[in-house]
Amino acid sequence: MNTIIGTDIIEAKELLEKDEVVAIPTETVYGLAGNALSEKAIAKIFEVKNRPQFNPLIMHIYSTDEIKKYTYADDEVLAFAKQFMPGPLTMLLKKKNSVPDLLTAGSDKVAIRIPKHPLTLQLLQSLDFPLAAPSANPSGYVSPVTAEHVLQGLKGKIPYILNGGACVVGVESTIVELQNDKLIVHRLGGMSVEEIQSKTDLPVVLQTHDERPQTSGKMKSHYATKTPLIMGDVNSLLQEYKSKKIALLSLKPSDIHQSNVTIFPLSETGNLTEAASKLFSTMRNIDEQSFDIIITEHFPDKGLGRAINDRLSRAQYIYKE
Ligand code: TXA
Ligand code: MG
Repeated sequence: MNTIIGTDIIEAKELLEKDEVVAIPTETVYGLAGNALSEKAIAKIFEVKNRPQFNPLIMHIYSTDEIKKYTYADDEVLAFAKQFMPGPLTMLLKKKNSVPDLLTAGSDKVAIRIPKHPLTLQLLQSLDFPLAAPSANPSGYVSPVTAEHVLQGLKGKIPYILNGGACVVGVESTIVELQNDKLIVHRLGGMSVEEIQSKTDLPVVLQTHDERPQTSGKMKSHYATKTPLIMGDVNSLLQEYKSKKIALLSLKPSDIHQSNVTIFPLSETGNLTEAASKLFSTMRNIDEQSFDIIITEHFPDKGLGRAINDRLSRAQYIYKE
């Protein structure tokens, strides 16, 4: 199959209407989209990504007006959704029967999100179905934040990549659920806990899960680079691996001068939002060079630093025995 990169919404729409899968831009990362109401299209997404079918997919919609079409959201939930959507936030909601079980991996809840990207919003508006979309990478690798990244991972496997430029947020959406007047955060992501907290009185409870499949055997972890990645105290790690060719992933430029170490600062000024937007491109960039190891620090646990720490700590485990 020939994979085309373009900006033609009509082309994307026609392919999606034929149950094909198409990569789409969002403000967080690129998604691998298909008709969320078609089992055929959903099955194709799992197959192209090589993703286990027990890992459910997010449903992308155009407007909060559509939430009640697919879920039993009450007025409180709708009011909450209207405050934060469109944006890098996904809500888990009790699903209606029209939502295929294949999409939710058998769960009675569906994850819903409105992506804040003009091309994709236009595409969603032109369709008469919502879009299922996981990140557009082969399962286990770093998520794509440009059309070029999508091509690198899925060339020949999908017909079309809708090019919407580089994703501005750069990490996946924050996944939340309203439960007994509390806001449960299931995945840290592009909308910071502080931002959510500044707009709601609900107590926020972190309940993030290990996304690695809970089965035995050799399993690739999430967000993993091919180059082994270790997170921890930078000075002692540099000492421990002093005979290796090291890529040092850090928040700010640093004054370490060692011939075996190349520094990849994510922000000149130490800005965590900027750092998040550069994280995945930098991990991919490092992976294309011949480093023995990636060493990274713990980022400050605030703002998007939390999502960065989450992704980096998951990337640490190369294989699970
Ligand atoms: O920013 C994002 O969320 C991107 C863009 C493309 O929208 N999408 C994304 O999808 O990151 P994915 O599939 O890579 O990650 C979705 C996460 C998975 O950890 C999945 O287990 C969880 O959402 N999820 C989806 N549906 C769920 C459900 N019904 N119940 C619990 N977790 C769910
Ligand atoms: Mg993903």
